[in-house]
Amino acid sequence: MSMRGQFITFEGTEGVGKSTQLANASRTLEELGVDYIVTREPGGTPMAEAIRELLLAPRDEPVNEITELLLMFAARAQHLHTRILPAINAGQWVLCDRFTDATFAYQGGGRGVPKERIALLENLVQGEVRPDHVILLDAPVATGMARARDRGELDRFEQEDLEFFQRIRDVYRERAIAQPSRYQVVNAARSLEEVSGAVSGLLSEWVTQSAVR
Ligand code: TMP
Repeated sequence: MSMRGQFITFEGTEGVGKSTQLANASRTLEELGVDYIVTREPGGTPMAEAIRELLLAPRDEPVNEITELLLMFAARAQHLHTRILPAINAGQWVLCDRFTDATFAYQGGGRGVPKERIALLENLVQGEVRPDHVILLDAPVATGMARARDRGELDRFEQEDLEFFQRIRDVYRERAIAQPSRYQVVNAARSLEEVSGAVSGLLSEWVTQSAVR
């Protein structure tokens, strides 16, 4: 087994089943005897979780898109440097619920921030660090939004309209097409068994690859 752990992120629009698939991926790694942690963005450390609360709370004051962007990256800097990188360097695999692809999709596609500006912050905060693999759970936006609504109270992002989430899905899909070696698009509109089978299959493949490297 290689010394460096793999950095795997889970992305998608609201209600596509990310939490369920993170739990499924964790079980798969456990069965394969891989040491791993599960974390999320925005969040993942006490300070970054405090920034998450600031970001998700519905509020009357309009939130400037650059304020939102900088807070996402402020949380990410803390999370990446104090939790994710130490884990990877210690040989642990990191399963992360969202990362910078979400910023390109939500702040870029959703809010309209030019992607060059996001890329500047990506380089500042991450240097060369990028996820080894991105699992994009992809499903029609309306399906996921209905699921998110059923969960109860909506956060500041979930209160946006269908078009906002359609733009987000479009950016995710464009990024996946542009970087096929890093992205795996999983059709999340299928049955739970099929989606879980696809995700577990990818994890098993990556564990095998890292063992022979
Ligand atoms: P979650 O609901 O998947 O936990 O994510 C929290 C919300 O934050 C979700 O609506 C997506 C949003 N988000 C961004 O807008 N930009 C980002 O960079 C990240 C990581 C999340």
